[in-house]
Amino acid sequence: MRLLLSFLLLFQVLLTVRCGKHFRLGRSKGGNLGGPGGYDGEPLPEPKWFKQKLDHSSPSNLNTWKQRYFVNDSFYDFKDPGPVFLMIGGEGPADPRWMVKGAWIEYAEMFKALCFNLEHRYYGESHPTPDKSTKNLVYLSSSQALADLAAFIRSMNNLYKLPKDVKWIVFGGSYPGSLAAWMRVKYPHLVYGAISTSGPLLAKVNFMEYYRVVVEALREKTGNEKCVNQVKAAHAQITALMKTHPEIVEAEFRVCKAFSEASNNDIKNFYNSIADDFADLVQYNEDNRIGADKRYRNVTINTVCKLLTEKSSIPAYKKLGQFNSIMLNKTNQSCLDYSYDNMIQELRNVSWGNDEARQWMYQTCTEFGFYQTSSAEVEIFGNEFTVDFFVQQCQDIFGKKFDMDFLNAAVDWTNNDYGGLDISASRVVFVHGSVDPWHALGLTKTKENYAPAIYIRGTAHCANMYPPADTDSPALKQARVEIQQYLAHWVGLP
Ligand SMILES: *[C@@H]1O[C@H](CO)[C@@H](O)[C@H](O)[C@H]1NC(C)=O
Ligand SMILES: *[C@@H]1O[C@H](CO)[C@@H](O)[C@H](O)[C@H]1NC(C)=O
Ligand SMILES: *[C@@H]1O[C@H](CO)[C@@H](O)[C@H](O)[C@H]1NC(C)=O
Ligand SMILES: *[C@@H]1O[C@H](CO)[C@@H](O)[C@H](O)[C@H]1NC(C)=O
Ligand SMILES: *[C@@H]1O[C@H](CO)[C@@H](O)[C@H](O)[C@H]1NC(C)=O
Repeated sequence: MRLLLSFLLLFQVLLTVRCGKHFRLGRSKGGNLGGPGGYDGEPLPEPKWFKQKLDHSSPSNLNTWKQRYFVNDSFYDFKDPGPVFLMIGGEGPADPRWMVKGAWIEYAEMFKALCFNLEHRYYGESHPTPDKSTKNLVYLSSSQALADLAAFIRSMNNLYKLPKDVKWIVFGGSYPGSLAAWMRVKYPHLVYGAISTSGPLLAKVNFMEYYRVVVEALREKTGNEKCVNQVKAAHAQITALMKTHPEIVEAEFRVCKAFSEASNNDIKNFYNSIADDFADLVQYNEDNRIGADKRYRNVTINTVCKLLTEKSSIPAYKKLGQFNSIMLNKTNQSCLDYSYDNMIQELRNVSWGNDEARQWMYQTCTEFGFYQTSSAEVEIFGNEFTVDFFVQQCQDIFGKKFDMDFLNAAVDWTNNDYGGLDISASRVVFVHGSVDPWHALGLTKTKENYAPAIYIRGTAHCANMYPPADTDSPALKQARVEIQQYLAHWVGLP
C-alpha cells in the first residue's frame, strides 16, 4: 500500500513515538527510519498491560480494554525519587527500542528518571474494540488518548507509590508532540512539563504549506534553484507526455497498470505518488541514518538533487523516473500501484492487522485534516491532488457524512478545544526543524518565555529525539543542550 496516504506524512517516532515512522504512510509503509539508531540488540523491557476505560467522556460506561506500555526503571532511585518521564504513543506501534535509546533516555539517565511509554489507543497492540469498523472508531480521538494518559499517570502514582509532589514530564514527537503540549493544556495538575517535538498545533483541512516547505527545503539544502527547476521541468514533461506518449511515462515510472485503464482518481493518485517521493525524502532527510537500511542511507536531498541535476543530456522526467525507481526498490515494490480503488479497499479493511493507515486516516477525517495538497506548489507538482481528492477519500472509506462541511466543523472544534497556535500552556518546549514540513503548523517562535520554541536550522522531522551522533550539526547539538537546560530548570539540576 503505498499510495497516497501521504497525507499522513506526519510523523514518525515510532515509539510510539512516531518520529521514526509515521505520519507518512503511503509508499513508506513501514516507515523509513525505523527505531532510534544505534540500537544493537540490547535486552528490551517486556510489554505490560494497563486496564483502561473505553469511553472517558461517559463515566457510566464501565467497559474496559488492555492498553500496552513499557517501563524502564533502571535509572530511578526509589529511595531518592527523581522525575518521571512519559513518552507518549502515537499513530503506530510502541517500539520498545525507544526504552533503551534516544535523547530522552540520555536525559533520563542524567536526571535519574523513571521512564514509561504508553501506546496510543487503536495502534500497535492496544485494541479497545473487536475490530476497526467505523462504528467502533468513535472511541478513537486525541481527547480520549489524553484522558488515557491522565488515567495512566494517576494509576502509576499509586502502583509505584510515587511521592505526592512527583513531577511528570511528557515527551512526544510528531502527533505525540501535539499530545504532549495538549497534556499541559488539559491536565496541568498531572503533568509538570512537556517537550513537544515536531508537533502540529493547528488543525487544517488543506495543509498546502506542506509542499511549500518541501520546495524550500530543496533550496535550503542545495543553495540554489537548480533542483527545484528540474522537478518543475520534469513535471511539465510528464504532463505533456501523458497526452502524447503515455507508454513512455508508464515505463519510466514502472506503473502497475496502463494509463489507458486509469480513472481520474487513479491519475490524481499517480501525481500524488510522485510528489510523495519528495515529501518522504525531505521529511526524513539525513537524521538518524545509522538506523536506516544501509543501501539507502545515502538517499538524501543532496544526493537526489545531484542525480536530478547532473548529466544535462538526460531529460528531467527520466531522472525523476530514476528517483522513483530508487523509492520503489527501497520499499520492495515491484511496480508503482497508483490504483485508487486498491488504496480505498485496503483502507476499508476493518480487521486488526499490521496496517494502521485506516486509524490515522480516521483521525484526519474527524479531527485534523492535514491533507498535503498540491494547491500551493502547482508549478512544481501540478495541481492534481487538491483538497477535494482527500475529502473524497474520507467519504469513500468511512461514509458519505464525512464531507467537507463535516471536516471543516471537526477541524474548527479541534482548534477551539486546544487553542491552535494560540495555545495557552506554560512549561512546554516546542521543538521544530526547518527542513520538516510539519513546522508550518507548529510554534517556531517563542511567544512567552514560559513556553519557549527551539527552531533548528537544517534538521528534519523529530531530529532532536534520536540518539546524539557525531555527525549531528552544531545547531542540533545545541538544541539538545537547551532542552536539557529546561529540564534541569523544571526538575532540579542532576
Ligand atoms: C534502561 O535503559 C538503559 C540504557 O539503555 C539500559 O541499559 C537498561 O537495561 C534499561 N532498563 C530496562 C529495565 O529496560
Ligand atoms: C548511493 O550509493 C550507492 C553505492 O555507492 C550508489 O550506487 C547510489 O547511486 C547512491 N545513491 C544516490 C542517490 O546517490
Ligand atoms: C531497482 O531494482 C531493480 C530490480 O532489482 C533493478 O534492476 C534496478 O537497477 C533498481 N533500480 C534502482 C534505481 O536502484
Ligand atoms: C525489503 O526487502 C529486504 C530484503 O528482503 C529487507 O531487508 C527490507 O527490510 C525490506 N524493506 C522493506 C521496507 O520492507
Ligand atoms: C484485511 O486485513 C487482514 C489483516 O491484515 C488480512 O488478513 C485480510 O486478508 C484483509 N482482508 C481483505 C479483504 O483484504
